[in-house]
Amino acid sequence: MKVFSVLATVLTAAAAISAAPTAQHEVRDVWSPKVLYPHAGTVWYSGQRHNVTWDLSSQPVNITNNPAFILLKTENFVTPVVLGYNFLLTDGRVEITVPDVISRPDYSVVLVGTGDNWGDQFRINGPIADL
Ligand SMILES: *[C@@H]1O[C@H](CO)[C@@H](O)[C@H](O)[C@H]1NC(C)=O
Ligand SMILES: *[C@@H]1O[C@H](CO)[C@@H](O)[C@H](O)[C@H]1NC(C)=O
Repeated sequence: MKVFSVLATVLTAAAAISAAPTAQHEVRDVWSPKVLYPHAGTVWYSGQRHNVTWDLSSQPVNITNNPAFILLKTENFVTPVVLGYNFLLTDGRVEITVPDVISRPDYSVVLVGTGDNWGDQFRINGPIADL
């Protein structure tokens, strides 16, 4: 897992809160599933619908299954563009619409749940050519 400092700080605080023992002392694990799609070699076009998918095989027994969301990232920074929200990590997928973007080869998706994790870099071809 790669850690993006700002998100990581927020998420560490969130994880600390959610990891606080409840009255029943339940154990809740931080879980950052690996993004499976999009992967290296994927090319998306603005306006298309796609399922972002992630690996459910490492799912802990007890997870804090709060609503998760997906952001779009370039090589150097996480953008505030929300690709998907209002789904659960246990869903394993969420259908998104590719937004209008400047064409670039260095996009990736950031899956933010109990932890954050981002996938491989891939290309999006949008209405504006690579700058
Ligand atoms: C999962 O949660 C249940 C109920 O709180 C608890 O009894 C159990 O020990 C937990 N299992 C793990 C692996 O943390
Ligand atoms: C996303 O996955 C669901 C469930 O498999 C499927 O019904 C839907 O058609 C998929 N959407 C796209 C855009 O492939």
